[in-house]
Amino acid sequence: MKLTHESIERNVGLLMVLIVLVISVGGLLEIVPQFFQKSTTTPVEGLKPYDAVRLSGRDIYLREGCYNCHSQMIRPFRAETERYGHYSVAGEFVYDHPFQWGSKRTGPDLHRVGGRYSDEWHRAHLNNPRDVVPESNMPAYAFLAKTPVDASTIAAKMSALRSVGVPYTDAEIGEAGKLLEGKTELDVLIAYLQGLGIELKGAK
Ligand code: HEC
Repeated sequence: MKLTHESIERNVGLLMVLIVLVISVGGLLEIVPQFFQKSTTTPVEGLKPYDAVRLSGRDIYLREGCYNCHSQMIRPFRAETERYGHYSVAGEFVYDHPFQWGSKRTGPDLHRVGGRYSDEWHRAHLNNPRDVVPESNMPAYAFLAKTPVDASTIAAKMSALRSVGVPYTDAEIGEAGKLLEGKTELDVLIAYLQGLGIELKGAK
């Protein structure tokens, strides 16, 4: 059979096979180089892995589904860079497994929220957002302040992250549980938020 436009269009099976082939090759060519490109695999200058406290806070962020309303990816649009700061670059997320870019923007982008507010502001806001932002429709997370953080799994989590390339030392993993002693879920979540978005060196 000759592979003409007509013979392909008249043979659904063949058409499907060829479509899958074309899309696979196109997809691979787009996706695979990303795993090897310097800009996506090298951490930006000054980027540090989350310490035990922030990592636990990040897990609370995931558990509570904060990403359902908040993105962590500032797009290179003027409206966003003026509001939030430098647009996000791939090298800032090298230690994130998985990243929290998100795409639902009910609330503001949080990528560079670190240091924008005091810990006290976050405490009041997470306890009841309406107390500090009257028109807010963000849910209240008052229970976080009453729940001690679970320290029993942190060392295992850090070891798992190390196996996918996050450079934790044995000492850091060893003392991880201790760092969480006496902390509530609210404490660690705030530590996570306050560490978000390092200044990009040389960024304009
Ligand atoms: C139903 C959607 C929704 C969810 C879920 C949600 N938020 Fe929000 N968030 C908002 C909205 C809307 C605002 C803007 C009004 C305000 O500041 O409360 C906001 C504001 C914020 C701000 C202030 C940002 C700024 O730049 O002013 C922080 C920090 C924040 N949220 C953190 C969180 C965290 C942490 C969680 C998960 C525990 C969470 N949010 C879950 C909707 C949400």
